[in-house]
Amino acid sequence: MTLEKYQRLSDDELYKKISRLKEERDAVFLVHNYQVLPVQRLADFIGDSLALAQAAVKVQVGTIVFCGVHFMAESAKLLNPGKQVLLPDRGAGCPMADMVTPEALRQARKRYNNPIVVTYVNSSAAVKAESDICCTSSNAVEIINSLPSDREILFVPDKNLGSYVAKMTGRKLILWPGYCYVHNRFTVQDIINAREEHPGATVIVHPECPPEVIERADMAASTSGMVQALKEHAEISEWVIGTEDGLVEQLSAANPQKGIYPLAVNAVCRNMKMITLAKAAWALENQKYEITVPDQVATKARLALERMLEVSGRK
Ligand code: 13P
Ligand code: SF4
Repeated sequence: MTLEKYQRLSDDELYKKISRLKEERDAVFLVHNYQVLPVQRLADFIGDSLALAQAAVKVQVGTIVFCGVHFMAESAKLLNPGKQVLLPDRGAGCPMADMVTPEALRQARKRYNNPIVVTYVNSSAAVKAESDICCTSSNAVEIINSLPSDREILFVPDKNLGSYVAKMTGRKLILWPGYCYVHNRFTVQDIINAREEHPGATVIVHPECPPEVIERADMAASTSGMVQALKEHAEISEWVIGTEDGLVEQLSAANPQKGIYPLAVNAVCRNMKMITLAKAAWALENQKYEITVPDQVATKARLALERMLEVSGRK
C-alpha cells in the first residue's frame, strides 16, 4: 500500500494495521518522548536517548521501528547490529548533529593538547567514530566525572549541555559551538513570564537550554529525568516545562490533576514531528528506511557508545 493510501486512514484503522504488521514482521517500536502523542501510543518502549539506547541493546525480535530522529536510530543499529532498524522518514535528522563533521573534529583534535573527545549522542556515527566516549543529557555529568582529571576535554557538539556539565563537575571543557534550535530559543524573559503567570510552579528545563535559563530554573533534567521528577515530587502540583512540546503533551496526559505549562509557546522540533502514524505503518510494511552504517565507521562509533554504557550502566 502507498503512503498516500495510509495517509487517508483514520488513527483507529492505522493502529489496527500496525498491530497486524508488527506481528507479521516481528517488530517493536522504540519511541522518543518528543513524538506526537498518537505515535507515543505505539511505543513498546518510550524514553530519552539513554533509555532508548539501553532498550535497543535488549531487543530480541528482528526489527526495530525507531520513532525519533536519525542519530537515535543509528545508535540503535550500532548497539544491536544484527537487527533491522527502520526510521519512518529519512528526513528526520537532528540539525545540532549536523553542526559537527568528522573532518572538523579531526582538525580540532590537532589544535588542542590531545584532548579526550566527549561527544553528545546527538551526532552522526561518523563523528562518534572520531570520539573517545559518548554521553547523553542524562549521563553527561557522570561521564565527565569518570575521566582523568589531568586531561583536557573537548565537548562536542552542544555548547549549552557542555557549559551545564562544566558547571556541575567543576571541569573546564573546550566547547564546540553547536546548539539545539528548539532549546536555544528559551530565554530568561520566558522564565520571568512563567513565574509571573504560575507563581507556585516549579520550573524544570532541559540542559540543552542556554546557561542563563538553566541558572534561573529550579531543576534541569533530560526528558526522562523530567518524567521521573514529576513522579518523585508528587507533592508539587504545578510545573513549568522547558523542553519540546511532545514531552509537555505526554506529561499533561499522564498528570491530568496537575498544572503542566510549557515554558514558551511553539517549542516544536520539526524533525521529530516528521514521523506520523501513517508513515510508521507504511515504513513497517515496506521496510523503510533501513539504517545502515559502513563497517569501518560502525566499529569505532560502537566503541564510543559502549564506553558510555560501561560507565552509566546497561540497565
Ligand atoms: P533526551 O535524551 O533528554 O531525551 O534529549 C534528546 C534530545 O534530542 C533533546 O533535544
Ligand atoms: Fe535535535 Fe533539538 Fe530536535 Fe533534539 S529537539 S532532536 S537536539 S533539534
